[in-house]
Amino acid sequence: MSEFKRREFLKSSLLTAGLGAGAVLSCAPSKQEAESDLTIMDAIMKRRSVRHFKPDPVPEADLRMILDAARMAATAGNQQPWKFIVTRDPAVILKLKEACIAASIESMKKRENPSEEKLKENTAKVTEYYDRCFSAPIFVTILTDNKSRWPSYNHWDGPMAAGNLMIAARALGYGTVFYTDSVPDAVTKKVLNIPDQYERVCITPIGIPVEWPETPEKKDLESFIVKESF
Ligand SMILES: Cc1cc2nc3c(=O)[nH]c(=O)nc-3n(C[C@H](O)[C@H](O)[C@H](O)COP(=O)(O)O)c2cc1C
Repeated sequence: MSEFKRREFLKSSLLTAGLGAGAVLSCAPSKQEAESDLTIMDAIMKRRSVRHFKPDPVPEADLRMILDAARMAATAGNQQPWKFIVTRDPAVILKLKEACIAASIESMKKRENPSEEKLKENTAKVTEYYDRCFSAPIFVTILTDNKSRWPSYNHWDGPMAAGNLMIAARALGYGTVFYTDSVPDAVTKKVLNIPDQYERVCITPIGIPVEWPETPEKKDLESFIVKESF
């Protein structure tokens, strides 16, 4: 299959995601990893939260496909209350990183009143952590609009889009992570000039992982299932 056809097939499969769990998403870009036939179930099962990335750029076509999957998520009354801020400018990503480091150090000072030595040690750890977090070439901040038609449903609609985005990214070989507290709301609001009208759902990097993390311990399926009723 030509690359174009593979992509079109993948796109149409993504758009019908959820309609056929076994449908083949087919042919994630082979440049990234040796797995070439990710089914929707594979993409779901193999999605992991990734916090360290290679600098390789994400092609525009891939990004658009990932955002397209996000916008196809279910929403209350089909209200589609989102904005997706795409941040690619390294200078802005650096600003986000520096603001996170500053916020983290500030809260550490308030919490612990650390000695000079402890502060230096923790600053080095925090810097290393955020160097990794902000190693991706793209960040997408998912917002919901408080002025949407049914804003009381926004807190469900937001994560629906985020879920689609993360699975679609995984299908194409990219890692993501649903950042909340690690990248404080106040940081994204300030650096990305987010108007008060919008609520942040999360911010996620999109990029090729340095390595795919091991699956963290997941509860057994049986532990979730309630047969018939409580
Ligand atoms: C609502 C929510 C908030 C999260 N916030 C953060 C966060 O602030 N920082 C972080 O590193 N990961 C965050 N995560 C990612 C989780 O830590 C991760 O999903 C969990 O450990 C399971 O790992 P997995 O995604 O690889 O299955 C968040 C995930 C969700 C769903």
